[in-house]
Amino acid sequence: MTCENLCGTVVCEEHTPKTPENALLSRRGLLSAFAGIAATIGLASFGESAMAASKTYVACKTTDITVGGAKLVTLPGTNVQIVVTRPNKTSYHAFSPYCTHQTTMLSGIQGTNLICQRHGASYNTTTGSPTGGPARGGLKRYTTTVVGTSVKVTV
Ligand code: FES
Repeated sequence: MTCENLCGTVVCEEHTPKTPENALLSRRGLLSAFAGIAATIGLASFGESAMAASKTYVACKTTDITVGGAKLVTLPGTNVQIVVTRPNKTSYHAFSPYCTHQTTMLSGIQGTNLICQRHGASYNTTTGSPTGGPARGGLKRYTTTVVGTSVKVTV
């Protein structure tokens, strides 16, 4: 349908009567655009801050963790605790040691799962993804590299 004033446009905003419904849609469109811009700016700013603040630490030696094991580590010179896992001979992974259900410190390892004793959540030792219980998401994962005999973690 073309404009009743025959301006030749199929969707003519200039000649469309402003009903409360149209005005609401316009406001929604405007607010939605603002939210998108704000989110973009906010995320970009947050990402830049996170990049600037990240630092790499030697978390432990490769021999500190047995194959299939895990170790709770306080990063040197900080009070930041992480859990480093070694699911097989050559791979190491680092995660937040706090359960995503109610932020309780993880209590141990069973097979290929890190365990939270409080309500029974479990997480895969390679990915940090939840494998059982009331966990609300995966564990925060940190970049891990092995240099010589040092396990380095970037937080
Ligand atoms: S706090 Fe870990 S399962 Fe509830």
